[in-house]
Amino acid sequence: MKSQDIRKQFLDFFQSKGHLIVPSAPIVLKDDPTLMFNNSGMAQFKEYFLGNGTPKSKRIADTQKCLRVSGKHNDLEDVGFDTYHHTMFEMLGNWSFGDYFKKEAINWAWELLTEVYKIPKENLYVSVFEGNPDENVPFDQEAWDLWKGLIDEDRIILGNKKDNFWEMGDQGPCGPCSEIHVDLRSDAEKALVSGKSLVNNDHPQVVEIWNNVFMEFNRKADGSLEKLPAQHVDTGMGFERLCMALQGKTSNYDTDVFTPLIEKVEQITGLKYTSNEIQNISEEQNKTNIAIRVVVDHVRAVAFAIADGQLPSNTGAGYVIRRILRRAIRYGFTFLGTKEPFINKLVEVLANQMGEFFPEIKSQQQLVANVIREEEASFLRTLDQGLQLLDKVILESKEKIINGEKAFELYDTFGFPIDLTALILREKGYELDEEGFNSAMQAQKTRSRAASEVSTEDWSVLIPGNVETFVGYDQTENDVKITRIRKVDSKKDGVLYQIVLDHTPFYPEGGGQVGDKGILSPALSKGEGAIEIIDTKKENNLILHFAKQLPENVNASFIAKVNTGLRASTSKNHSATHLMHQALRKILGTHVEQKGSLVNPNYLRFDFSHFAKMTEAELQQVEDFVNARIQEQLPLIERRNIPIQQALNEGAMALFGEKYGDNVRAIKFGESMELCGGIHVKNTAEIWNFKIISEGAVAAGIRRIEAITSDAVKAHFELQENTLNEVKEALKNPQDVLKAVHSLQEDNAKLTKQIEALMKEKVKNLKTALMVEIHEINGVQFLAKQVDLSPEGAKDLAYELGTFGTNLFLVLATAEEGKPTLSCYISKELVASKNLNAGTIVRELGKFIQGGGGGQPFFATAGGKNAAGIKDALEKAMDFVK
Ligand code: SER
Repeated sequence: MKSQDIRKQFLDFFQSKGHLIVPSAPIVLKDDPTLMFNNSGMAQFKEYFLGNGTPKSKRIADTQKCLRVSGKHNDLEDVGFDTYHHTMFEMLGNWSFGDYFKKEAINWAWELLTEVYKIPKENLYVSVFEGNPDENVPFDQEAWDLWKGLIDEDRIILGNKKDNFWEMGDQGPCGPCSEIHVDLRSDAEKALVSGKSLVNNDHPQVVEIWNNVFMEFNRKADGSLEKLPAQHVDTGMGFERLCMALQGKTSNYDTDVFTPLIEKVEQITGLKYTSNEIQNISEEQNKTNIAIRVVVDHVRAVAFAIADGQLPSNTGAGYVIRRILRRAIRYGFTFLGTKEPFINKLVEVLANQMGEFFPEIKSQQQLVANVIREEEASFLRTLDQGLQLLDKVILESKEKIINGEKAFELYDTFGFPIDLTALILREKGYELDEEGFNSAMQAQKTRSRAASEVSTEDWSVLIPGNVETFVGYDQTENDVKITRIRKVDSKKDGVLYQIVLDHTPFYPEGGGQVGDKGILSPALSKGEGAIEIIDTKKENNLILHFAKQLPENVNASFIAKVNTGLRASTSKNHSATHLMHQALRKILGTHVEQKGSLVNPNYLRFDFSHFAKMTEAELQQVEDFVNARIQEQLPLIERRNIPIQQALNEGAMALFGEKYGDNVRAIKFGESMELCGGIHVKNTAEIWNFKIISEGAVAAGIRRIEAITSDAVKAHFELQENTLNEVKEALKNPQDVLKAVHSLQEDNAKLTKQIEALMKEKVKNLKTALMVEIHEINGVQFLAKQVDLSPEGAKDLAYELGTFGTNLFLVLATAEEGKPTLSCYISKELVASKNLNAGTIVRELGKFIQGGGGGQPFFATAGGKNAAGIKDALEKAMDFVK
């Protein structure tokens, strides 16, 4: 059975059991501060388990793109070494939100596996939670009894809290689970060792395929459990492992999910991957296999993340993606011999293979490949630099063991992987001080952990059962009540309170737009006792208002008042963003797609796909287009709650990687129409003026524009004018400023030429004068002297003197404008015969002038801070000759 059909049969089966089939949520999470990536099928439904929202249906099924590379569930370092862990994988799942429970879940799981997929019953084992007296959770008798009706009792295994109690994170919904494991070993192996003893024992052919979680509890901040108001089912089946079981393979990588990618790698590298069936492979082949598994696994994770809008970067989710890609690049570099970008070439295969079910990978194929290629090229350059640096470290090391802290520096500053460092050192007969490396790493981890520590208290609920509504599209001031409060203490922000209201005019950060600020004041106090709301964010369908303190009486009635000045500026920037998006598609072409956006009161930032730097003329056209729409005074046409298909049919633009509901809000200004939840001006005339202030690249094929509107444009031009006035004044107010600047530049060029000529003359004279000062020590023609020249002049002089004879050893010092430099010249034959190195020598002498430097063995320079040290440096130079 093809993997495509296996996926379809799962969804068809649950549809026939009354489940609504929904698409996979994007792999990158946007509005959830507790999670970077979707790490399980249930993540997109969290709010329903918490009771903060109502699902479209009480029964839902889907396949979810998941990434387990950070936080509580992290498999990254295992991937490649075994045959059944992945960074990105698909999780097939079915859910009940307060509807069916254990009976249906267990019976359907069994029916699907044994009757539809026809997995032989004698290959299956199931596990049941054994209970935990410390937590007061009993043995799961109900699950045990249900399984007993389906499977031989001998195949039911009791599992502990680690294996059979599923928790999404440190806090939140959780419950006992029942796992289904499959034994894929040969009959001979089964006869030798029972499958039961191998369950949950990291055996590559006795693996868990399906987890059925029975959500009954909520884990509170103090670690205790409370019963959830309703009982839910959350199941997750590993798609790739299911394919392995149904395609009669013993490795996920031997299924058609991976073989096309593997074939492509083989074709590019000329190497062969051996399937899991082949035994007794060489150590060399094993390394090749691991590296190929790493590459074909990682390319999926990275490609889908980019298609969902997450570009590799230096922070947050982007950094995780960058690290995954770099792991693949270095496995290729070290074990597959790939010194040129190649992973990008796998994207086409992936798009052909998965594009039908996940259209985002097909439609973004080109962009994804470009971004990956650029990342590869740049990291390969880093590897190259790292190799050179490592050579230097080896050269300078007096011992055969290389300092761990140095290796950590390479790793930390240049991203140079430690296993590669160790490998190269071994090849060159050196050893790595691993302990030193580990302790430097540990110290850094402790530092960053301390910096990101957050403790979150449980909600204290003042008004239960309320579902908060957002009224901020129409209002900016409301009478409200507080429904719940939570205290959060973090190293970064200190103590903050999160306040939830019964309804709120405060816009929570989203769609690029920052959250509203404002105040919350007791209704009857005439402004006294008001607290400031410093930010507003959304989490699990709740709107959180952030404050540094709580009001005195939290049960009182309040007036929630948005800072309308800030909001007005923000909304101008947001509406201008839409107009600019429209302009870019008109002027550059419809390949332009939004890739990121930030809208705050000060400016707007917009990232979009486009292959080339924008020309001045294009930028001008975009500015003119937006300003023309502003002058047309286009009214806002806002359509709330229209069916998504209708909005799309009318031409509304939707973004990849964004999760939309069935009903959406569409924002229209003239011909610009976008699906958007943000705050906008009522008429484009309010924007007043639009000005682009920068354009640049963020990644391959992605450009970034920053722009301003309204008063900020005025301030911008005022600043320009002031600067111009200052320039005029400095030039003594000439009639024509430009002409005055040009003539200044011409004068400057003339003078520079004259100085250069004079310098040459001076060098020549000094050469004659110094030639007589060179004296012989131990057969070496030696001179160490301070000269009144520029550093470049000293270099010229050294080379000039160099032509004078053989066996020369010269050190020239300069101190132009008090800045000391040293130049060291050693004749080539001395370098060879006496094993001297100018680079090492200047570094040594550089210490006297508090500086450092380097260069080639026959010529090197050092710069420093302490001119008073020149004398000692020159004296020390003689020691080298002596
Ligand atoms: N949440 C469970 C898991 O991820 C089942 O979906 O294993």
